[in-house]
Amino acid sequence: MSEPTLQIEGVHAGYRGARVLHDIDIRVPAGTVTALLGPNGAGKTTLLRVAAGLLRPSAGVLRLDGAEVTRWSASRRARHGVCLIPEGRGVFGGLTVRENLRMMLPARGPRGRVDDVLDVFPDLRNRLGQTAGSMSGGQQQMLALARAWLTGPKVVLLDEVSMGLAPLVVDEIFVALDALRSTGVSLLLVEQYVDRALAMADTVHLLDRGRIAFGGPASEIDRDGLLASYLGATTTP
Ligand SMILES: Nc1ncnc2c1ncn2[C@@H]1O[C@H](COP(=O)(O)OP(=O)(O)O)[C@@H](O)[C@H]1O
Ligand SMILES: [Mg+2]
Repeated sequence: MSEPTLQIEGVHAGYRGARVLHDIDIRVPAGTVTALLGPNGAGKTTLLRVAAGLLRPSAGVLRLDGAEVTRWSASRRARHGVCLIPEGRGVFGGLTVRENLRMMLPARGPRGRVDDVLDVFPDLRNRLGQTAGSMSGGQQQMLALARAWLTGPKVVLLDEVSMGLAPLVVDEIFVALDALRSTGVSLLLVEQYVDRALAMADTVHLLDRGRIAFGGPASEIDRDGLLASYLGATTTP
């Protein structure tokens, strides 16, 4: 069996004086979607930061395609295909759409082509000269996904990309995520809309107060039990 794209093994992490993550084990197999669910403050963003290399774990190991990357910097991980789409809009509001896209093209190595990416995000094609900050939240999030795509990623870490967007826009985002997955990219998806996450994910991990409370195939999740025990009323749109 091939190595998972991303492996998180026995990871502990936190901030000065605050232990947040305890003994986290997650495998993200190639070409699959892993959803990370959990209430506010559970540590989801912190875990994505550890995966991206922005926060060094106090214990544990991270692997990319089987190779240990625990001590790699965020930029080195990014060059090797780890792409974080942070909370909020991961775009430069003062730059045009075209500039936002062009700056993601790597100097060398595998790269998606801008034209191919614009086929997946046709709305952006009409907005190449528009400043990103003047677009709607959904359009900015599409631009963030397009930027991620251009880096030719192996694994994309997505932190609540649907936050604050209208249901129809969230639909579009998930269509784009599905297209990204179909190119063989792995996704680690932090998502507040449980039903959407369950519909898209192969595997689900539930994070509760910094620990994995459940991990398993999305098809085996007791959705109602999950919502009742951990997640409150996070069900729409
Ligand atoms: N930069 C930071 N410094 C100190 N504590 C932080 C920092 N960022 C997050 N935390 C704390 O870590 C815990 C987990 O936060 P976070 O990872 O953002 O959770 P989630 O994304 O699941 O809502 C919270 O208790 C939060 O207050
Ligand atoms: Mg968060």
